[in-house]
Amino acid sequence: MKILEDRILRDGQVLGHDVLKVDNFLNHQVDPMLMEEIGKEFHRLFKNEKITKVLTVESSGIAPAIFTGLAFGVPVVFARKHKSVTLKDELYTSVVYSYTKKTSNHIAISKRFLNEDDRVLVVDDFLANGQAVKGLIDIIDQANASLAGIGIVIEKTFQKGRQLIDKEGIHVESLARIKAFEDGKVVFVNDEEAEDAAK
Ligand code: G4P
Repeated sequence: MKILEDRILRDGQVLGHDVLKVDNFLNHQVDPMLMEEIGKEFHRLFKNEKITKVLTVESSGIAPAIFTGLAFGVPVVFARKHKSVTLKDELYTSVVYSYTKKTSNHIAISKRFLNEDDRVLVVDDFLANGQAVKGLIDIIDQANASLAGIGIVIEKTFQKGRQLIDKEGIHVESLARIKAFEDGKVVFVNDEEAEDAAK
């Protein structure tokens, strides 16, 4: 997605070898105009999937998820994070390990908001090691809902999240795909490489 890539080049900051800081427009200060375009793009990419609900995890997934829900005209549910969950009866829960933060969180969704009639589009800000997405898929399975696809704003192809999802044959769309950070600069996957990977 050209406007997203341009924005990453303009406002993203590379930290170390593998982290992109995007707090100027995505996960601290949020650019709603950009989020609206992101929502429309996910709608274009998944419009044939009969989506009934958009699912994400707090906090940084919420902004793109809301605009995706708006584009589809469906509710958005975000999993809440807790260090531990005690009142489990009314909740679907899963454990998500964060490689970046070296912590585990329980994520939880009320059973009232997901059921077997739902076709779910998972939306998240980053795909890195894929642990957040894995936890959300676990919750969708517990609810006997069906996973219609996964929409990612920024994918880092050099980390193992994509491999993990591709193994499952899931419809995944990433709006910006970063293959490397070189000398503090972002290098995107080019069209030819994307076509090769899709074969
Ligand atoms: P995952 O997101 O694929 O599960 O991989 P990982 O365990 O590495 O990510 C842990 C957290 O770090 C996630 O946020 C993820 O969005 C974030 N993250 C991963 N790579 C980057 C990056 O390059 N830049 C930024 N800004 N964040 C990254 P989280 O713990 O769920 O926190 P929240 O920010 O959504 O509250």
